[in-house]
Amino acid sequence: MKKGLFITFEGADGCGKTTQLNLLKDYLTNKGYEVLVTREPGAKGLGEHIRKILLNYEGEVSDRCESFLFLADRAQNIDVIVNPAIEEGKIVLCDRHTDSTVAYQGYGRGLDLNEINMLNNLATGGKKPDLTLVFDVDIETSMQRVGNERDRMENAGNEFFHRVRNGYLEIAKQEPERIKLIDSTKSIEDVQSDVIRVIEEKLK
Ligand code: TYD
Repeated sequence: MKKGLFITFEGADGCGKTTQLNLLKDYLTNKGYEVLVTREPGAKGLGEHIRKILLNYEGEVSDRCESFLFLADRAQNIDVIVNPAIEEGKIVLCDRHTDSTVAYQGYGRGLDLNEINMLNNLATGGKKPDLTLVFDVDIETSMQRVGNERDRMENAGNEFFHRVRNGYLEIAKQEPERIKLIDSTKSIEDVQSDVIRVIEEKLK
């Protein structure tokens, strides 16, 4: 049986990637593909508990502890949800993955990038996305989209988000084969057309 595809969706908060993920899910399902949607943090099951701690805990959280919680959630998502679905030939759409840790904990919080890459590798068992879409949008637009009800990560401030965005732009430059940058300031329809163009190229 043909193996599936692992596609990850990335970008700063409010970049519109989740909307695009859902639109792509419908598009691919209508074309007859079997699609599985998952997310990090917070894949079905244990991940949902880890997500609550990460986003809602109000006490002090050290940067390293935060990283390990994201990584623990990732290991569970890959082992229990993603890999079995890929083996069954499904297309897996994952809302955030390893590049989020590089952008947020690495570029954003300033943790060592080599260490993060090593830890990501441990968490995934070496599994890499076949394709990653990075939705790029300026900070003003993304904060407007996030609005005033913010979780712990979204409250990290504008400086932090500048670093996160630059981090994404940097990793997109480093891995142009895997990572495709999508201009997410356009209308939902136009962004979707760009997404479909990239996906159709990959499915050829
Ligand atoms: P979520 O509500 O899923 O945000 P979004 O809808 O923008 O994806 O919250 C996930 C938050 O966790 C988001 O602010 C990014 C952050 N995050 C990290 O800092 N590191 C990581 O490795 C991951 C997966 C997410």
